Amino acid sequence: ASSVLYDNHGRPLEYVRLAVTDRCNLRCFYCMPEEGIKYMPKQELLTYEEMERLVGLMAKLGVRKVRLTGGEPFVRRDLVPFMARLAALPGIDDLSLTTNGVLTAPYVPDLVRIGVKSVNLSLDTLDRARFARITRRDELPRVMDTFYALLTAGIQVKINAVVMDGQNIEDLVPLTELTRELPVDVRFIEEMPFNGGSHAATPATLPWNHRRIREHLEAYFGAFTQLVGKAGATASEYKVAGHLGRVGIIAAYSRTFCGTCNRIRLTAEGGLKTCLYDQGVLDIRALLRNGSSDAEIVMALTSAFQHRAANGFEAERQRPLHQLSFESMSTIGG
Ligand code: GTP
Ligand code: 5AD
Ligand code: SF4
Repeated sequence: ASSVLYDNHGRPLEYVRLAVTDRCNLRCFYCMPEEGIKYMPKQELLTYEEMERLVGLMAKLGVRKVRLTGGEPFVRRDLVPFMARLAALPGIDDLSLTTNGVLTAPYVPDLVRIGVKSVNLSLDTLDRARFARITRRDELPRVMDTFYALLTAGIQVKINAVVMDGQNIEDLVPLTELTRELPVDVRFIEEMPFNGGSHAATPATLPWNHRRIREHLEAYFGAFTQLVGKAGATASEYKVAGHLGRVGIIAAYSRTFCGTCNRIRLTAEGGLKTCLYDQGVLDIRALLRNGSSDAEIVMALTSAFQHRAANGFEAERQRPLHQLSFESMSTIGG
């Protein structure tokens, strides 16, 4: 195997989350306001060629996993050929994406051909009216088409459901029911304060935290067995007795996984974020566009990686509530 780069806190750099666009065709209220967010003009976005060059350099530094995020990745044109090129980069052995599933179904055969083994599907409810209320778009049928197309094609699916008081609590059991007969993972996510200003910041005490979600489900399904997760995983994973798939809970707000964080992020306009809570970003696009050599870009990446916050989450949590971030998840890349 190739070398791995360690940061200033001894954490390996293995995983890059690449936001290919800040645009989205849904308007999930926990992510952005109805009118959307102020999108980047096209020339500000990294081109596919620029992203490919960067990922190639990162792969030389030891990155082996790439997850495409957004916005919604399939909103960007010609995503499939770009994915094929990423998959072919030496060292990249895990290419996946996080999608809302609205446009994805027709591309499932392409994903299979490219060798995508797993897709994370954002789906907060199985009820059409609630879906329309949460996402402000009536697109549940197309998302379900994607879900079944992925399963049929043998691609591993992880459903991401953000848990929202008063919005989708009645969906926790039905979503978990999917794992009974299907080999899917359903992951419940605590809501984070990245909503593009669409509503008030997440309260200091989250009504539905990890513990309450687990208790709610165990009251119905019986006691869970905790599974040993992969290093750097966001979700605590559980087995429900007799179920084929697994349940995960992502305590994105009440708990920190900074200690084992193995990832960096690249925003759609080419900003490197060494932490989800980074305020400043390293402007890699400027380097790409000022004629910097590969060696210079590698130096800049390596140096940024040696100046990572130990625990960005804790710093964020200590800020007064009114200062909490109103950035949209779709610009951060999830
Ligand atoms: P896997 O590669 O399958 O482990 O996916 P993932 O959980 O890393 O990514 P996904 O895009 O499915 O994101 C699931 C949830 O985890 C989203 O709400 C993300 O915003 C959140 N998340 C991802 N990375 C981080 C992180 O570094 N810190 C925090 N606090 N949350 C994160
Ligand atoms: N809190 C938690 N998760 C969020 N996501 C988007 N916005 C938020 C938020 N404010 C989730 C999406 C998607 C993943 C990348 O991030 O549902 O599944
Ligand atoms: Fe789009 Fe995902 Fe944000 Fe929903 S959460 S609006 S699907 S980027």
